Amino acid sequence: MLADKDRIFTNLYGYQPWTLKAAQARGDWDNTKALMARGQDAIIDEIKASGLRGRGGAGFPTGLKWSFMPKESKDGRPSFLVINADESEPGSCKDREIIRHDPHKLIEGALVAGYAMRARAAYIYIRGEYIREAEVLEAAVAEAYAAGLLGKNAAKSGYDFDVFVHRGAGAYICGEETAMIESLEGKKGQPRLKPPFPAGAGLYGCPTTVNNVESIAVAPTILRRGAAWFSSFGRENNKGTKLFQISGHVNKPCVVEEAMSIPFSELIEKHCGGITGGRDNLLAVIPGGSSVPLVPAAEIWDAPMDFDGLKAVGSGLGTAAVIVMDKSTDIVRAISRLSHFYMHESCGQCTPCREGTGWMYRVMERLRTGDAEPAEIDMLQQVTKQVEGHTICALGDAAAWPIQGLIKHFRPELERRIAQHVREAAE
Ligand SMILES: Cc1cc2nc3c(=O)[nH]c(=O)nc-3n(C[C@H](O)[C@H](O)[C@H](O)COP(=O)(O)O)c2cc1C
Ligand code: SF4
Repeated sequence: MLADKDRIFTNLYGYQPWTLKAAQARGDWDNTKALMARGQDAIIDEIKASGLRGRGGAGFPTGLKWSFMPKESKDGRPSFLVINADESEPGSCKDREIIRHDPHKLIEGALVAGYAMRARAAYIYIRGEYIREAEVLEAAVAEAYAAGLLGKNAAKSGYDFDVFVHRGAGAYICGEETAMIESLEGKKGQPRLKPPFPAGAGLYGCPTTVNNVESIAVAPTILRRGAAWFSSFGRENNKGTKLFQISGHVNKPCVVEEAMSIPFSELIEKHCGGITGGRDNLLAVIPGGSSVPLVPAAEIWDAPMDFDGLKAVGSGLGTAAVIVMDKSTDIVRAISRLSHFYMHESCGQCTPCREGTGWMYRVMERLRTGDAEPAEIDMLQQVTKQVEGHTICALGDAAAWPIQGLIKHFRPELERRIAQHVREAAE
């Protein structure tokens, strides 16, 4: 189990105030000027060496992403950092804990990361439903300005840096980085075709990096304690500590910081009080937020909870939102409900996603009641393949994968429902 001394988020549960004074007592904002004085490239190198990979879902190496930003502006355009606090992935609730209980970790991270990538300002895009969280964040930003930690000569570093908090209006798609940029610009939140990538032309046409809240909030601690410390947790390619969010059929659902690669069993037994009804009652787990395929009980139990470990069992770490389902779950209904979510949240720009999500949901609903032909299972699988990889953004993939996981692991259950429906109709 991760030792308390190795936790980055020491106020995750809000036992202490979130305020600047309390944050400083916990070590935040401690000589930030000295961290910045190491220089922009040195900061990026340290983050690269730490092995930190993006915590927003895709796991792109963070230091490498920062290094794509221009070192100097050739045409006078400023650069921007956009911090993704949209957190709308079903099951995900970690960024919320950071923002409401430890906002200064994020704000200090914004300054340090923004400085490293030569950004003029950071925009924190927070999901509209996080009303109280946005209030805390705005108050914390105001505190930082009042203390001279942001604004002109931020933290006496000689660098000018602003932080703006922007509230979203409740669309899942605005969590996709280019949709977020469109939304920040005041337009309808619809993903852009790439290229150009945001590092070339992002917010207001300027070089932009979009990072998840957790990716940014861990940066100052990595710089303070060193890349070697951070990378001593987890395993090759899967380094560091990570916020796991475990919900569903466990005795004690929680958000907890643990070492990357912790086995699923340990996460559940040590932090969640076990599966409801015991280990044998586990049916399946969606380990990374609703967008990744489910993993059946037998395959998840010993799996290391990291990017490679979950890929090896046909799923993904995603946001590390672990949705646990015991045998009382109607698994077909659960996946059908997710299909409804993706149908509802599709922005409608591309035909495979706009039409496919609705089509998939309608077939899923018929499979739920059994009112379908056996051949439709394969047809549904084929349609998921026609959506996957054929859309502008990854929402199309996210809609396809949960269904693929269901068909792969629970085909007999789908067939059983169809057979039962036929029997009942004949009676
Ligand atoms: C439909 C969709 C929704 C997304 N929602 C979020 C989100 O709520 N928060 C987030 O950090 N990333 C989200 N992402 C991923 C972002 O596009 C982006 O990869 C991420 O913010 C990059 O940050 P990172 O490199 O620090 O992980 C979403 C992606 C898609 C396709
Ligand atoms: S995949 Fe779906 S959500 Fe993404 S751009 Fe296309 S229609 Fe919009």
